Amino acid sequence: MTGSGLWVTFEGGDGSGKTTQARLLQEWIESTGRTVVRTREPGGTEVGRTLRELVLHHRAADGTSDIGPRAEALLFAADRAHHVASLVRPALDRGEVVIQDRYLDSSVAYQGAGRVLDAREVRELSLWATDGALPDVTVLLDLDPSAARARLEADDKPFDRLEAQKDEFHARVREAFLALAAAEADRFLVLDATRPVDDLAADIRAHVAPRL
Ligand code: TYD
Repeated sequence: MTGSGLWVTFEGGDGSGKTTQARLLQEWIESTGRTVVRTREPGGTEVGRTLRELVLHHRAADGTSDIGPRAEALLFAADRAHHVASLVRPALDRGEVVIQDRYLDSSVAYQGAGRVLDAREVRELSLWATDGALPDVTVLLDLDPSAARARLEADDKPFDRLEAQKDEFHARVREAFLALAAAEADRFLVLDATRPVDDLAADIRAHVAPRL
């Protein structure tokens, strides 16, 4: 995007193992001597953490979740705008490697297909928010939503506003991610998230290594 850095994002449904793979990639890249900035959306900055709390955990006084789809899309885009300007671009300009859990593909999949906003508009909104920033590599960990739900339930953490959506929502999100990957095959690496953790990590390393 800018500078001599490398920007890698991880995408996929909830429970697909993004965080584990991002951590393993970070450890490996750091072992080669490069500086890595590990971050995520929503919530990669101080302002972002406030937005994350609002967009993922807000409950109205009557117990309902009262953020409409357009407001939700704008909150994710606001987090993204601040995150890219204040953390991602400066790190890439310094020549560092940025490894990030989720980026604009999550908005296109969750707010576009999941909430049924216009996917093109959602993407344009994020591109406007970030002045057109796109990652060098996006790893999509593809997982059937029922397998993902079983993993999340085993975790025993309370579900956030998005995780709590029905299975049809998560099925639409999955299809949207796969369609995004097919449309931008140069940027995406799509992997079957049911494969063993170490095999996935090896494939991701092999894909990223020549770009370092
Ligand atoms: P994430 O931080 O990956 O979840 P976890 O709590 O497991 O660490 O993502 C939080 C949720 O936000 C996830 O359900 C996907 C959703 N999300 C969107 O709907 N749109 C977006 O643009 C982003 C970045 C996330």
